Amino acid sequence: GPRPGLASALALIADVPDFPEPGVLFKDITPLLADHGALRAVVEALAAPGRDDAGRVVVDKVLGMESRGFILGAPVALALDVGFVPVRKAGKLPRATYTASYVLEYGEATLEVHQDALRPGERVLLVDDVLATGGTARATTQLVERCGAQVHAVAMLMELGFLPGRQTLGDDVPLTTLLTV
Ligand code: PRP
Ligand code: MG
Repeated sequence: GPRPGLASALALIADVPDFPEPGVLFKDITPLLADHGALRAVVEALAAPGRDDAGRVVVDKVLGMESRGFILGAPVALALDVGFVPVRKAGKLPRATYTASYVLEYGEATLEVHQDALRPGERVLLVDDVLATGGTARATTQLVERCGAQVHAVAMLMELGFLPGRQTLGDDVPLTTLLTV
């Protein structure tokens, strides 16, 4: 059937009050993922920052952050005809890694990437579902730079406008989000 527009795709994101704790309004993307037309519309929109104005692919890899970034990042990589690199939580990758830690509301988190996942000079597109504090995206940017590669653009489904994620990432890299909540 006809592909739904991006707006109708985003309308499938469900609000779940008081999850995972009282006072938090959780944005549940699973109804969007379950609708193949909506998923396709979102994947294509997230892939757009990986192309130039003439439609040429200008990135060498797509990076997705565990775990919801895997769901969106791998199909974005296929849409651009480039490979996918998983950025994983600590202790999951089997070979030599680079590591970046960042502060959470309670405690600390660590992300890793294989040292040979990117070659020096490669340009990458970061894909994830939500930009909140920006800690995940900033740590991932550090991992890309450790590899000698560069972040060409960041593409996120949602941005939480009441948190400073956009400021945390700074102005150096273009940030595309499909929805601000
Ligand atoms: C969530 C979300 C983003 C990140 C955004 O991931 O999927 O990756 O938080 O937050 P930040 O901008 O403050 O870093 P989370 O680590 O909760 O888990 P998941 O993806 O494994 O579900
Ligand atoms: Mg995540």
